[in-house]
Amino acid sequence: MHRTVALAFSGGLDTSVCVKWLQEKYDADVVTVTLDLGQRDDMREVERRSRQIGAINHYTIDAKDEFLRDYVWPGVAANALYEEKYPLSTALGRPLIGKKLVEVAEKEGADAVAHGCTGKGNDQVRIDVTVRAMNPSLQVIAPVREWNMSRDEEIAYAQKRGLPVKPSKSIYSVDQNIWGRSIESGPMENPGNEPPADAFEWTVAPEEAPDEPGYLEIEFREGVPARVNGRSMDPLKLVSYVNQLAGSHGVGRIDHIEDRLVGIKSREVYECPAASVIIEAHRDLEQLTLTRGELSFKAGVEKEWSWLVYSGLWMDPLRLALDSFVDTTQRRVSGKVRLKFYKGGMRVVGRSSANSLYRVELSTYTKASTFDQNSAVGFIELWGLQSRTAANVASRRAKGAHREHPERKQSPEIKQKS
Ligand code: ARG
Repeated sequence: MHRTVALAFSGGLDTSVCVKWLQEKYDADVVTVTLDLGQRDDMREVERRSRQIGAINHYTIDAKDEFLRDYVWPGVAANALYEEKYPLSTALGRPLIGKKLVEVAEKEGADAVAHGCTGKGNDQVRIDVTVRAMNPSLQVIAPVREWNMSRDEEIAYAQKRGLPVKPSKSIYSVDQNIWGRSIESGPMENPGNEPPADAFEWTVAPEEAPDEPGYLEIEFREGVPARVNGRSMDPLKLVSYVNQLAGSHGVGRIDHIEDRLVGIKSREVYECPAASVIIEAHRDLEQLTLTRGELSFKAGVEKEWSWLVYSGLWMDPLRLALDSFVDTTQRRVSGKVRLKFYKGGMRVVGRSSANSLYRVELSTYTKASTFDQNSAVGFIELWGLQSRTAANVASRRAKGAHREHPERKQSPEIKQKS
């Protein structure tokens, strides 16, 4: 049976070998699909490689804006950090790759999609689940998961077939898009080793950052970053600008012992300057504009949201339900946040909002205070009522037990209880 497969293609060794392997093993025509998510690759070069290896068609899809608006911004609204550290940069891109693969497959009349994920990671889950939820009739082929070739074997396979594979210049396994850069392997596989200087590309070493601090003001409108340092910017420009500025101060490095979905613990190093800064600023603005009740409930929603996205369940209806809650809270999350960067560190140093719940006439210690301190007395009386009652009961029983000789029978009160 003749078949057509739409393959997610990066132009690297793995996906180049995938093209050939799909042709040989599945006798398939291969259509390659490359999303530009801001990973800073030369898209024309990627397309050239696809044609050279023999794909019958190639799609370069500029998905940066869709990625930011429909995936990254909801992540900001949800302050999405997996295990309180990782801004989900890779994870947020995968369902969009899955979606575009399905669209191309349908357009090209393909009966399968393929990707170069291994069987050990999260990315296979994210793409497979998305594709199968969007179009259950498409088969998902994951050559790297099937073939079990080592890197050396892949190179030999490629050379034997004359594939234009340049020897990889990096010892690291890297995945990047506009929201962040993931770096794995090499000496970092030992979690005791400090990440080497050459692992980083988007951030300067904190010790080499400028001696003068840097400032950045971000303005949010209903939870969405809209202006930076007083200038309106589209999402791509805004995130690129913050990546550059924060990165130049060494801000955004993350070193994470991460729990993968498949049970493996892995050492993941990230550079996510914009993500770290924007989420920190957004969280601070919520602290100013949302009530304590909203904040504490939202913290649980954020954790669940991050887990769903990390674990590949972007398509689960629960994610949309959580988004509804988050969106409702974001209507009041408008205002400005000022941050200070210094030698790899960042801090929020100021914030303001028309929706601020901070009332200086309530909090001030000066004469201007309108807070009625006398009402605190009755409040405390009731607020502590149960704690006081419990303490009284415990102390009465402790005294009773003390009077009792150990060999004597239990007091009637205790008997009654047990
Ligand atoms: N551990 C991160 C995640 O699961 C990053 C994965 C990087 N992916 C890659 N293909 N190198 O989202």
